[in-house]
Amino acid sequence: MDSEVEIKGKVISVLNMKGGVGKTTITKEIGYHLSTLRDKKVLLIDVDPQLNLTQSLFRFYGFAQTEELAKKILVEEEQLQEELHEITTEESKNLSEEKKKEVKLKISEASIERVFSSTTSSPAKEKEAIQILAPNLHIIPGELGVEFTLRNLNSGKIENGIYEFIKKNNLRNKYHYIIIDCPPTYSSYTIAALKPSDYLLIPVKPEAYSITGVDMLMNVIKSVVEENDPYFETKPLKNLGIIFTDIKQSPSIGTTKLIKDITDSEKIAKHQINIFATRFLSNAYMKNRLDYFIDASNSEKSKLNLEVLVDEILERIDELG
Ligand SMILES: Nc1ncnc2c1ncn2[C@@H]1O[C@H](COP(=O)(O)OP(=O)(O)OP(=O)(O)O)[C@@H](O)[C@H]1O
Ligand SMILES: [Mg+2]
Repeated sequence: MDSEVEIKGKVISVLNMKGGVGKTTITKEIGYHLSTLRDKKVLLIDVDPQLNLTQSLFRFYGFAQTEELAKKILVEEEQLQEELHEITTEESKNLSEEKKKEVKLKISEASIERVFSSTTSSPAKEKEAIQILAPNLHIIPGELGVEFTLRNLNSGKIENGIYEFIKKNNLRNKYHYIIIDCPPTYSSYTIAALKPSDYLLIPVKPEAYSITGVDMLMNVIKSVVEENDPYFETKPLKNLGIIFTDIKQSPSIGTTKLIKDITDSEKIAKHQINIFATRFLSNAYMKNRLDYFIDASNSEKSKLNLEVLVDEILERIDELG
């Protein structure tokens, strides 16, 4: 691990009980941006058993969790290369160039399981849980093959796991930002993410039931905070707000109305939730490639959008203190 830096790291959970709203995408894009363009030390944590965040970053940086997966990925890559030969857009050509760099995949044994299964007498070591992807960008990868469990009597270890790991290893002094990608369901993993968090960030795709989803989320958070008072007393959980995601530059009348309805809704007002002025714009390439990263692409429009979005997130963090 690199030497400690004089920093007071901030922990941010990216959360929404609704699936497919852009939690993982926002986490990885912000993490990549802060680490590559703003010289910040970033730790990403994948607490979602779906492993989307891990898959995306491992694909980009050339890692796999097992030899078997590594072989499968290489076969898929070869097929993709063949298909790409038939496509001639600039974006595809560049992606193709990037792929050539990662013909050999490194096997990563780091896993969040170690964080969740550690005990006081055998605490997890940083190198057992953290995979260094690049000097400024590290990840605690999800664990392959984990069954999604709801809360049960043995959940305590999971629920305190990340909090204890950050504390024991002094991670707030080693990373400027620790960003946690949460699963869409309420479980021990959600609590594990919230306990160490200073901030909450809520991506929302404007849809018919978005308001109900956010209202439910806020009620769940309220009860988690109440149930775990001691964790939040010295370090209150602050809500950065809602970011509308996957929005076209010129949104349809329907989307515009949905955004207005959500923004003006009584429920949002009741919870006093900030709405980000910057929306996370749609980018068609994102849907097609696990390892697409805006700042590694040629999309100037998306790059500018991400830059402005990160500016607004940092301003909001400053504002809330
Ligand atoms: N700005 C965007 N433009 C285009 N597609 C997007 C955008 N943001 C997210 N997507 C796509 O929407 C889908 C869902 O995004 P993502 O996986 O980030 O959501 P999620 O909230 O993490 O989902 P889950 O709840 O399953 O974890 C993905 O296919 C992703 O590529
Ligand atoms: Mg996700």
